[in-house]
Amino acid sequence: MNVPVDEGLLLSMLLKVMNAKKTLELGVFTGYSLLTTALALPADGKITAIDVDKEAYEVGLPFIQKAGVEYKINFCLSDAFTVLDDLIIKQGEEEGSFDFEFVDADKDCYMEYHKQLMKLVKVGGIIAYDNTLWFGTVAEPEENVQEFARKGRKQLLELNSFLAADDHVEPAVVSTGDGLTLCMCLC
Ligand SMILES: C[S@@+](CC[C@H](N)C(=O)[O-])C[C@H]1O[C@@H](n2cnc3c(N)ncnc32)[C@H](O)[C@@H]1O
Repeated sequence: MNVPVDEGLLLSMLLKVMNAKKTLELGVFTGYSLLTTALALPADGKITAIDVDKEAYEVGLPFIQKAGVEYKINFCLSDAFTVLDDLIIKQGEEEGSFDFEFVDADKDCYMEYHKQLMKLVKVGGIIAYDNTLWFGTVAEPEENVQEFARKGRKQLLELNSFLAADDHVEPAVVSTGDGLTLCMCLC
């Protein structure tokens, strides 16, 4: 379930190069990508991290505490849409939008997440979608793909095609882990 180490290192370097301070993560699980992010952000960095699974988060929490970065994390035990809706409502009152948004929750909602996340990301900021190569199946004709992977393949092909044609973003599909689509917000 966690991103692999090479992807974690890439995300970490990207966050540092961008000087990211304020990030959002949808889908925490035991917190490997969250810990990677928290270690990459500066001392005044903040992550809003959302997951419906408190038990999994608590498995990883001692490692986050041991690394001394828990203070950067606002963990929201919630469905992602509820928090995104709240953030959009509060956006005008707070100190601005997100530098970086990492999406690794339910794949069938990526297109819907994208609409909300675009309202929250800074111009020049990045939305990163995990698992966008879906075991490599997006490059295969459907008949070659096992039944269990077909639905996800279709959804992720739709997302990648949508992003490739959208003038509001500049996308790059990176072949790391199970595929990572980086999407820079242009306006
Ligand atoms: C692949 S895991 C995340 C792994 C994590 N990003 C990492 O690399 O360490 C996906 C997580 O998304 C969470 N999730 C699924 N649907 C969700 C939703 N609608 N709202 C919030 N979290 C959700 C699951 O509970 C699960 O922990």
